[in-house]
Amino acid sequence: MLITGIGELVTNDGGEAGFAAMTDAALVIEGDRVAWTGPAARPPAADTVLDAAGRALLPGFADSHAHLVFAGERSAEFAARMAGRPYQAGGILSTVAATRAASDAILRANLRRLSEEMLRQGTTTFECKSGYGLTVADEARALALAAEVTPEVTYLGAHVVPPEYADDPAGYVDLVRGPMLDACAPTARWVDVFCEDGAFGADEAAAILAAGRAAGLVARVHANQLAPGPGVRVAAEAGAASADHCTFLTDADVDALVSANVVATLLPGVEFSCRQPFPQARRLLDAGATVALATDCNPGSCFTSSMPFCIALAVREMGMTTEEAVWAATAGGARALRRTDIGHLGAGARADLVLLDAPSHAYLAYRPGVPQIAAVWQSGRLAAGSAS
Ligand code: NIG
Ligand code: FE
Repeated sequence: MLITGIGELVTNDGGEAGFAAMTDAALVIEGDRVAWTGPAARPPAADTVLDAAGRALLPGFADSHAHLVFAGERSAEFAARMAGRPYQAGGILSTVAATRAASDAILRANLRRLSEEMLRQGTTTFECKSGYGLTVADEARALALAAEVTPEVTYLGAHVVPPEYADDPAGYVDLVRGPMLDACAPTARWVDVFCEDGAFGADEAAAILAAGRAAGLVARVHANQLAPGPGVRVAAEAGAASADHCTFLTDADVDALVSANVVATLLPGVEFSCRQPFPQARRLLDAGATVALATDCNPGSCFTSSMPFCIALAVREMGMTTEEAVWAATAGGARALRRTDIGHLGAGARADLVLLDAPSHAYLAYRPGVPQIAAVWQSGRLAAGSAS
């Protein structure tokens, strides 16, 4: 299939890493891959032709951080927070109780609803964590359900210490890096730890990530979300793909991210929904860090599934240019997931595409809150919206 008349084609395929686009472009999909990109004036022959009529075509968004396996909701906690109560991550345990009590069918239906919601908003790849089960059986169940909807499955047994281990947190760490890991590793690609006061400390996090690595999982870390702390350093030492949140960073943290080549995944929906100061994207970018944007979609700290919303926040509140934000939401997410087949649209890339109802990528931030996703292709197949 030939898509021609593309007003702006975001390829992210320039010589060096960074946003790249062409105007008046065309693109050919063959099977599940992009076969060709070039000027609309000189397109190759194709079986079917779609005229984009001057609209923009982007790589599908890569949302590298989401917690989608859960039951229940916490709108009352959100409302209380907006009335002045701080976010302290204590609400996680109420979702744990609701998730443990839920049937597979309820969890599956919730997960499918959210993943379809993401797709309609242009997200063609997403990561999905466990972390609301916190028993061997409930964590394994969460990962099996996540694996039904994405290959990017993350074992987050170390989300918080569950109530039955309140008096024995060391015992819970042993469970997470022992029998629970054994049950979960076959289903997961990644291991994550919430490294923060009130969750897991540096030594505990390092031990869990090391056990995960020995079981074949690659690390990612919830780091420096609520206060300065050791999370980023732990991520760098563990060879993590990504340190996520990065809201409170020292200069040494920034250096560690750059020198250990850990992606800084920023989750501005969290700061929006918790009314916190936004992460300093400009500081990270100017230091040479690789920045990704993701939603953190979860029922507590941030219940948005919208990458366009995160792009708008990143541009308006975090000093990112429209080009940097769109790169971070596509190619940056791909880096955070160590994927080379997505996040760009050169020949050979996976044909994960978003057609905007707008002439350029900038409209994602320029028209915040407006639905502008006309059509979404996943591996070359129309998966949402309409191509006409
Ligand atoms: O990424 N930081 C810890 N975990 C989630 C929040 C989970 C929740 O509030 O239920 C986060 O913000
Ligand atoms: Fe999270």
